[in-house]
Amino acid sequence: MSTVLVVGASRGIGHEFARQYAADGARVIATHRKPEDAERLRAVGARPLALDVLDAAALADFGARLAADRIDVAILAAGVYGPRTTGLEPPAPTDFDAVMHTNVRAPMLLIPVLAPRLVAARGKLAVLSSRMGATGTMGHATGWLYRASKAALNNVLKSASLELGPQGVICMAFHPGWVRTDMGGASADIDVTESVARMRYVIAAANDSHNGKFLNYNGEQLSW
Ligand SMILES: NC(=O)c1ccc[n+]([C@@H]2O[C@H](COP(=O)([O-])OP(=O)(O)OC[C@H]3O[C@@H](n4cnc5c(N)ncnc54)[C@H](OP(=O)(O)O)[C@@H]3O)[C@@H](O)[C@H]2O)c1
Repeated sequence: MSTVLVVGASRGIGHEFARQYAADGARVIATHRKPEDAERLRAVGARPLALDVLDAAALADFGARLAADRIDVAILAAGVYGPRTTGLEPPAPTDFDAVMHTNVRAPMLLIPVLAPRLVAARGKLAVLSSRMGATGTMGHATGWLYRASKAALNNVLKSASLELGPQGVICMAFHPGWVRTDMGGASADIDVTESVARMRYVIAAANDSHNGKFLNYNGEQLSW
């Protein structure tokens, strides 16, 4: 049985990853913040584990709480958008810290903790990035704090791929599509079920050539 870790599984894309992997028979460890979300995760067959990714001490201690020597698939889904800016509005320091700590610092603290378990399984690491983090194709400045955080996350993923790829781990950054969730909103392009099903297919089929790549949810390679 494969072991899947989903960080940020209380709702949205992370929750759907936990639901689909558990329905397929995987052993799913799914993190949440609020106590009331634990029951919803149990109901879909996942094992809930409390984790606030803003808590650096909890991230450092996370390995000890994981109770898994091997992780076949790790999905880092927890993320926040921050202020819905349209131009060059200066971010409030609290917004800057919340977005950067959630979207960038947390993966930088978590990936080293997960690395030995991913190496043991020759597993796969997927971070949920966004096309909004792509610098080369950027057309406007909307949500520039979120964009900056996802560009930084892409860079973090690339570093991880260079370190972990030679040890057999396939590291990928995904744009999940514009998905109907609390973050994506009701008028987004695609349903969360479809986004996750497509990404799971890409993850399952991924080989060494996918290591260090930025991928659309349908497997198409995106430019940084
Ligand atoms: N939806 C889209 O169209 C879209 C597009 C591109 C990229 N993405 C990315 O995909 C990922 C998932 O997005 P989504 O649409 O599912 O967002 P969402 O519906 O807003 O859900 C966000 C998830 O992140 C968790 N989270 C936020 N801060 C956290 C913290 N400090 N500690 C632990 N968990 C935390 C939330 O937990 P709580 O319930 O506890 O708040 C929730 O489970 C994000 O990284 C997002 O940037 C989404």
